[in-house]
Amino acid sequence: MSILLTGGAGFIGSHTAVELINAGYEVIIADNLANSNKKVIDRIEKITGTRPKFYEINVAVKEDVYKIFDENHIDGVIHFAGFKCVPESTRIPLKYYRNNLDTTLTILEVIEERNCRALVFSSSATVYGDKNPVPLKEDMPTGSSTNAYGSTKLMIENIIKDVSRASKDFSAVLLRYFNPIGAHPSGLIGEAPDGIPNNLMPYVTQTAIGVRDHLNVFGTDYNTHDGTGVRDYIHVVDLAKGHVAAIKYATEHVGVEAINLGTGKGSSVLDVVHAFEKANNMNIPIEYGERRPGDVDASYASVEKAAKLLNWHAEYTLEDMCKHSWNWQKNNPNGYEDK
Ligand code: WQD
Repeated sequence: MSILLTGGAGFIGSHTAVELINAGYEVIIADNLANSNKKVIDRIEKITGTRPKFYEINVAVKEDVYKIFDENHIDGVIHFAGFKCVPESTRIPLKYYRNNLDTTLTILEVIEERNCRALVFSSSATVYGDKNPVPLKEDMPTGSSTNAYGSTKLMIENIIKDVSRASKDFSAVLLRYFNPIGAHPSGLIGEAPDGIPNNLMPYVTQTAIGVRDHLNVFGTDYNTHDGTGVRDYIHVVDLAKGHVAAIKYATEHVGVEAINLGTGKGSSVLDVVHAFEKANNMNIPIEYGERRPGDVDASYASVEKAAKLLNWHAEYTLEDMCKHSWNWQKNNPNGYEDK
């Protein structure tokens, strides 16, 4: 079976490409490299021994997507392509709506026209908003997103549900990611944010390598065991394996299912810092600052549905995530850029 990964050269897309190839799928990647690097394709080949077909295109451009479907038999699509920086989305919301919705609408139109009936969508726990109790369950109300990025994820989930209501043989799995961290154990692929990292782990690893002189801990007065924010950190390889299970499920069923991909365990900012220091035998200098606007006290997943429908659960520990994040960063001080 051959699977098209839109945005497949990105952090989660590249790890998913590796696990799909390991599982015997043919992988085709379409990516405009807006938030990734062409070197990733070489690294996927180095890890798996198989080079995925690569199209450097913007998947919002229908003619370019047609070309992929003309040249390949596509059994399923995993749609990663989209902008994903929460703070940036509040500064330039229209760019997020234009890009994230256009890419999705084009993909949905082409897979309908070309009778490709299985879709996995890269959604986010952000769609739960800040009103639901933890652990977050898939049947809880979604909405009340505090940023354009989260709103695009919610809109796209609703668009896909409407498409499913209109076409009975359409199948989609909406994967709600919690907090992906870590890297492939080889250290050949990993998270390479442009500029100052917004997310916790890349900021920790850049502090560890000396690019940042300390980590700012955003808030110490949350309603958590140590006052710092609690999140459900999941190893990106576990997340990738969840996509393999999801696309298999989508090709064997019809209808739409939203499924959490998390560990079901919450870790605070200080839990992560201490785990990182212990796993890598080093000290991470920190300074305590104010809360970051829009952050919630705690977010972690209910994991029953993924176990039941996908026969999948996360296996890597927080220690593994810290070791593999550091292994990637120390082997790639400048990410994929040569310096
Ligand atoms: C985690 C915790 C911060 C940085 C976001 C998106 C979500 C998904 C993952 C795309 C919080 C604290 C962080 C720092 C800190 N992205 N923190 N200092 O905000 O839970 O989720 O990224 O899909 O959609 O919303 O992740 O890593 O930014 O923050 O103290 O320098 O670390 O306050 O408690 P978040 P994060």
